[in-house]
Amino acid sequence: MPTPEEQVDAWFDPKKPSTTEEGAERQSDAHSLSVGPDGPLLLHDVALVEKLARFDRERVPERSPHAKGSGAFGEFVVTQDVSQYTKAAFLQPGTTTPMLARFSTVAGELGSPDSWRDVRGFSLKFYTEDGNFDMVGNNTPVFFVRDPMKFPDFIHSQKRLPDSGLRSPNMQWDFWSLSPESAHQVAYLMGPRGLPKTWRNMNGYSSHTYMWVNEAGERFWVQYHFHTDQGVENMSNEEAAKLAGEDADIHRRDLFESIERGDFPSWTLSVQIMPYAEAKDYRFNPFDLTKIWSKKDYPLHEVGRFTLNQNPINHFAQIEQAAFSPSNSVPGTGVSPDKMLLSRVFSYPDAQRNRIGTNFNQLPVNAPVVKTNNYDKEGHMQYHHTGAAPVYAPNSYGRAYQDTQGVVDNGWEADGELVRSAYTLHRDDDDFGQAHTLVREVYTEQERADLVDTVVDMLRADVEEPVLSNVFAYWKNIDDEVGQAIEAKYRGQ
Ligand code: HEM
Repeated sequence: MPTPEEQVDAWFDPKKPSTTEEGAERQSDAHSLSVGPDGPLLLHDVALVEKLARFDRERVPERSPHAKGSGAFGEFVVTQDVSQYTKAAFLQPGTTTPMLARFSTVAGELGSPDSWRDVRGFSLKFYTEDGNFDMVGNNTPVFFVRDPMKFPDFIHSQKRLPDSGLRSPNMQWDFWSLSPESAHQVAYLMGPRGLPKTWRNMNGYSSHTYMWVNEAGERFWVQYHFHTDQGVENMSNEEAAKLAGEDADIHRRDLFESIERGDFPSWTLSVQIMPYAEAKDYRFNPFDLTKIWSKKDYPLHEVGRFTLNQNPINHFAQIEQAAFSPSNSVPGTGVSPDKMLLSRVFSYPDAQRNRIGTNFNQLPVNAPVVKTNNYDKEGHMQYHHTGAAPVYAPNSYGRAYQDTQGVVDNGWEADGELVRSAYTLHRDDDDFGQAHTLVREVYTEQERADLVDTVVDMLRADVEEPVLSNVFAYWKNIDDEVGQAIEAKYRGQ
């Protein structure tokens, strides 16, 4: 993979006096061409017209969710042997793979404070010898909804009101309290992990169930956990509010400066592994994104470690234009019947064709380290091309193409009528059970008290009836004591 420095275009020469975009000398970067010193400007002042027109087009759309973020390059080293579970080349013992990470908030816009309470994005791109493998996860192991049909509505409720353009706890709580499947993720978000101290101090999770396939063709369901080697640390509401005013870029700054001073953050990858056949009878539906798998049932297996050791040298080219997608998988890996994941596979490259451009894969930060061969062509800003090679398959002129048929090795069986339906419930499935365990058995007394304060502060901002009553009921369903405490505190009792 080219280093960040090597990704700088060879045609840029900082020693050369400035030129037009076509390479001819640009007469001035300071003075426009006018009729006499005080006279009107001239349309044929190519230097001025080009500079203004180019400036007018500098902004590209920000990511629809996860707009504010930053990242760094690094490497992933496999330290343990998981070859009995996957044949993926980059997961074989001792393999080192160059990579890129990007961390983000979900709801805020490009300039929003890093310390707003939110879930954090945890995106990884591995430039493997089999093509790019991406893991686009969060700092929490579950999610707010389990059906992709609700995802745009969920994001709308987190963004801004249509009339005032303000963010609105009323809108957020309205959506959550009417979507009981959100309880587990909301319990995470209102707890300590909603405010990580730095990106270096948070874990990352695939959240979804994915597939691994070994050389023998055996399939396994897996969940990825990236545990921070810096230790999990969070901040209080007061610190976060202060930082939002004093240093809106605190997390971006922290990552950049720590790498700059040689303090390279790292994360250890472990996976939970479920034999293929066990999914059917597991007590929770293992493809439901609002649930975790118990570690008692499926313990963690360590795989390796990634370290971030190189900052971007151009934030726009290497971070803003980076395109991560759950559709980027390699042989030995695959997706699962999780409906959210299956729709993400479509949504990311689709968003990127719009946000960055049809040929976004050709940009150095997104391009695989291996050569490609496909029959997709042209579109805006095509840079690499296939010369005069045949543009169709099959062809009689020697350009290779694939013609494989039959069962794929990373698939699963499915059958039934076409329906619009919730998932099949497994034995222990319900919306509030795992949320209750988190709040009652994982959080400390202090963390529960902080959660009550956080929720009440939000409710006091603008939440009105009937949303208010729905929120009290929602929390009582999660944990009756916490729900009672939220209502009592809100009512000033
Ligand atoms: C149906 C469900 C979902 C849809 C349709 C969806 C869609 C999107 C879209 C369109 C983007 C912007 C992509 C871009 O412009 O480059 C995005 C970004 C992102 N999403 Fe999702 N998303 C979904 C669920 C999730 C879930 C469940 C997770 C985590 C487990 C997640 C994590 C992220 C992250 C981390 C980013 C930022 C990627 C980056 O760093 O560039 N999303 N999502």
